[in-house]
Amino acid sequence: MSVLVIGGGGREHAICVALAKSPKTGKLYCIPGNAGISQVAECVPSIGVMEFDKIADFVAAHKDITMTVVAPDDPLAAGLVDYLEERGFRAFGPRANAAIIEGSKAFSKHLMTKYGIPTADYREFTDYEEAAEYVKTAEYPLVVKADGLALGKGVIICQTVQEGEDAVREMMVDKKFKDAGSKIIVEEFLTGKEVSVLCFTDGQTIVPMVSSQDHKRARDNDEGLNTGGMGTFSPSKVYTSQLADDVYRDIILPTMNAMNCEGRPFKGVLYFGLMITKKGAKVLEYNARFGDPETQVVLPRLKTDLYEIFDAIIDTRLSDIDIEWTDDACVCVILASGGYPESYKKGVPITIGKLPKGIVLYHAGTAFKDGRLVTSGGRVIGVTAKGKDIEEARKKAYDAIKDIHFDGMFYRRDIGIKL
Ligand code: AMP
Ligand code: GLY
Repeated sequence: MSVLVIGGGGREHAICVALAKSPKTGKLYCIPGNAGISQVAECVPSIGVMEFDKIADFVAAHKDITMTVVAPDDPLAAGLVDYLEERGFRAFGPRANAAIIEGSKAFSKHLMTKYGIPTADYREFTDYEEAAEYVKTAEYPLVVKADGLALGKGVIICQTVQEGEDAVREMMVDKKFKDAGSKIIVEEFLTGKEVSVLCFTDGQTIVPMVSSQDHKRARDNDEGLNTGGMGTFSPSKVYTSQLADDVYRDIILPTMNAMNCEGRPFKGVLYFGLMITKKGAKVLEYNARFGDPETQVVLPRLKTDLYEIFDAIIDTRLSDIDIEWTDDACVCVILASGGYPESYKKGVPITIGKLPKGIVLYHAGTAFKDGRLVTSGGRVIGVTAKGKDIEEARKKAYDAIKDIHFDGMFYRRDIGIKL
């Protein structure tokens, strides 16, 4: 029973490593994959994640493939799971009509309002003049969001009227995020700790994974530009079992039920980006997939066979599976290319010395060039370690970084310190 994984980042590397542990997984394939993934899977760099016909042709040509796992947001939103199913193949991930929960912030805000799921107050605009007028008198800080997918960059936190006006103009007039900004959400700024809770769901049952926290800003002390994530740790200390129960009752279960009521049953991984405010947890965002780099600290703590979980979700029998986790902790520190998240060089040689035992490197942006390991993206490698607690895991991860080098490499030194 071979498995094809779609994607080529650290998240997909962590998924491949977890699947490879299953006795049920035969051969692993990954489209397009990366240099690290090629150690556990056969990678196909010539096919892109949006080339649906080529992906389906690949599955058709490999009769051993019994499951295709679609990990990234773009192919999910554009309907790769639907496309594969139409061609008679089994796929893991939500169909397009459910992936819209991430693909359109206007959709998710309507959903939460309609079903009483706690989230920030908001207004929606499709008309530039109206939006520009509104931000003149609104209360600040204020958050301006592009409706559609914008590589995690379509959210601008504005401190002043000037910044609010600039954000609205950039999105709606200058089309900085192309069509993703034709519609915008302007919402209340929430304060508190951010926690990520990823859940397995088959539309009938929803099972939260262990919690995690992401560090999104490029620099220490949460300074610098927003990135796709500079490091993560699991579990989150603020996410107590009491809070987890409240969130399950008030947010997680109601979201699954709401999607069913809307005729959009969600199967796959549903990610809840939460802000733990003084008034309780509120949803900042939904993602229709595993988070990156949250997956890199969550899956190493999974004791249950991931293949079996995916298989049960596809067949809508998740309630049959008992999902278990280790009670240790995990920390992932991202090594990034100089200049990230803006412009950076690619093709820079990477040297990796002898790593201490227990360190796992999840490759995000790496490739082989003339037989050498080189950088091929902004986020390059996630250095991951487990320990009895966050402190121990963090120390192990930072110790290992001393043995890894590439020109321009930078990383945050405070991952897992501010809990
Ligand atoms: P999103 O893509 O909606 O999760 O936004 C990206 C990041 O922007 C979040 O992880 C938060 O750090 C921040 N953010 C988004 N919405 C809000 C909000 N209403 N209040 C405060 N911070 C926010
Ligand atoms: N780490 C945030 C995300 O995956 O969207």
